[in-house]
Amino acid sequence: MADESGEARIHRGLKGVYFDRSPATFIDGKAGELRYFGYSIHDLAENSSFEETAYLLFHGELPTSVQLNVFDAQLKKERVLHPQVLKIIDAVQDAHPMEVLRTGVSALAAFDPETEDCSPEAVLRKGIRLTSQVPMIVAAHHRLRNGEEIVQPDMDLSHAANFLYMIQGEAPTEDAARLMDLDFILHAEHGSNASSFTARVVTGTDANLHAAITAAVGALSGPAHGGAAENVMRMAREIGDPANAKEYVKAKRKNREAIMGFGHRVYRAEDPRARHLRDGVEKLSVEKGEPQWNQILTALVDAMKPYSRHGVNVNVDFYSGVIYHLHGIPQDLFVPIFAVGRVPGWTLQVQQQMQSNILIRPLLQYNGADLRPYVQLSER
Ligand SMILES: CC(C)(COP(=O)(O)OP(=O)(O)OC[C@H]1O[C@@H](n2cnc3c(N)ncnc32)[C@H](O)[C@@H]1OP(=O)(O)O)[C@@H](O)C(=O)NCCC(=O)NCCS
Repeated sequence: MADESGEARIHRGLKGVYFDRSPATFIDGKAGELRYFGYSIHDLAENSSFEETAYLLFHGELPTSVQLNVFDAQLKKERVLHPQVLKIIDAVQDAHPMEVLRTGVSALAAFDPETEDCSPEAVLRKGIRLTSQVPMIVAAHHRLRNGEEIVQPDMDLSHAANFLYMIQGEAPTEDAARLMDLDFILHAEHGSNASSFTARVVTGTDANLHAAITAAVGALSGPAHGGAAENVMRMAREIGDPANAKEYVKAKRKNREAIMGFGHRVYRAEDPRARHLRDGVEKLSVEKGEPQWNQILTALVDAMKPYSRHGVNVNVDFYSGVIYHLHGIPQDLFVPIFAVGRVPGWTLQVQQQMQSNILIRPLLQYNGADLRPYVQLSER
């Protein structure tokens, strides 16, 4: 695209560029609003479950209770990992859990009976399967690397409770399961974020769902995307005391470094998902006798106030890491937990891309050397 002068207009990072239309996710960055298929994230956070929200994302409508029961049974039936996938996880167990997850999802493709079938029905079945298998990869790896027995899934537990059970080896409290469920709802979908866009780019070449989600896991692992939750906890430890927050921010900004858990490509107001987890941090910090984390985060928000005028506010990952920590979950599982919640969103984006597929292939404007003669190696 050229402007009036005929110059190509460059949109670095594709900032502000619409590349398609979608009925799924409404985001108003100025007002701080997020809706899945017209339903406010606040209503879903307060009333829904991950299973119900996943159904909404897969089908575009909330389920009836019969539909929800059938869907829940499908999810539970798919809580199975092929023994060869477990062997592969075992072989790479020393890597970061996100590397293991990417490898695990890729390995699932080799054993899924429908990997190559890209019909809408098969993609839905695979999306449901991956929704159940991704948390199992994360949990199985965590047990293996600690030299512990893999925990078999408990079919009486919800998606969130079963995940915690398979990691920790004991059924979680109702509060812990609810917080994990809430976290999954808040992370389930978010439009054309970097990992979902990656999934769409892969789908644009007519590659299959496993290929798209493997690539999406890779994109999510970076600190500018899912990696932020892990880095927020690291930052909170580094700050150590609420009194140090102001100095920390000053030093970082002097070096033009980002403060983790702040800022967003789309939101200029506060990320609407953040408030639901803020309440969790406040409550849990007191309950678990570790009030310093809430105090450090609160001091950081204060120290960042001057930047909020410029649209840099807390995002969803600012609070999530501390919540996981207070539940005894190790830091390197924070991003995989984001991935567990996001599988329905990735599947939805792939479904939509497939509905009217097109190769995604933008242009790079050349600004290198003019044509030059090739010089033989012996003469260089
Ligand atoms: C998410 C992120 C990559 C978005 O980047 P982006 O879209 O390029 O950022 P913006 O264009 O909105 O940045 C606008 C300004 O705010 C500043 N800014 C953005 N995020 C900031 C942060 N976390 N801390 C301090 N300043 C920040 C930028 O430096 C920029 O300043 P400048 O105009 O003087 O260069 C970025 O905010 C970031 O790295 N945040 C920390 C990591 C994080 O929490 N990621 C999770 C996202 S859910």
